[in-house]
Amino acid sequence: MAPVLKTTDELKIMRAAGRIVAAAHEEMRRAIAPGLTTKALDTLALTVLRDHGADPCFLGYAPGDHPPYPATITACINQELVHGIPSAERILEEGDIVSVDVACFYQGYVGDAAFTHPVGEISRSARRLMKATENALAAAIAASVVGNRISDVAKATAKSAARSGYSVAREYTGHGVGQAMHEEPQVPNWWPGKKSKVQWQDYELLPGMTYAIEPMLIAGRPDLMELADGWTVVTKDGSLTAHFEHTVAISEDGPLVLTLP
Ligand code: MF3
Ligand code: CO
Repeated sequence: MAPVLKTTDELKIMRAAGRIVAAAHEEMRRAIAPGLTTKALDTLALTVLRDHGADPCFLGYAPGDHPPYPATITACINQELVHGIPSAERILEEGDIVSVDVACFYQGYVGDAAFTHPVGEISRSARRLMKATENALAAAIAASVVGNRISDVAKATAKSAARSGYSVAREYTGHGVGQAMHEEPQVPNWWPGKKSKVQWQDYELLPGMTYAIEPMLIAGRPDLMELADGWTVVTKDGSLTAHFEHTVAISEDGPLVLTLP
């Protein structure tokens, strides 16, 4: 099914949803410090969403054979790539990097964003990985213009990551966002050749198209595995990862980032 194009009125609501997500991120960013648990971060995010009349998208989400997701955010420390479950036993330590992802429903529409944050002083290599991931997201957003296709966005991400010397997570993609958290199109962080087993629909970018772009960069090899909790995905070689995500809308005037403050 072709991506659903949103009207100006729908984009206004999505912008409001995006601002709520941004407010939750701001609250978490300010709280992140050595000693904080990822459960405490989750509670902060849920409180912000509720205060704005929004609901968490991840809570209870159960795609495929996954158990229902038990929290508002995902919190991934260091080698954890995605879907880290918040816990009162996971304590942030000086030198960690923590990736936080949150999405909300507001008046029937979704906003979805993720950021990686330093915990206290971090290594230069961690800082460099974070910066490269932000740069890859910026490149993908810049490529999100009418006249381009999804493959141009994917290639912009891949090129930026490669230039920085990092791999991208190949099995996880960005996604259309609207009344559902996951819609068409899929927005990958690399683009396969014609003979590849993996193929994605290469939609033309049209005004009113809305999607989340979410580069996940890896300092080492891009081989991943899922932990026994049924959710947390980590790099097999234990190498560091970073993840930045924004929800954007395609417009005649260029990309609109819906999840900015
Ligand atoms: N932002 C992620 C995504 O777009 C988060 C899903 S997390 C889950 O798929 F926990 F809900 F699965
Ligand atoms: Co997302």
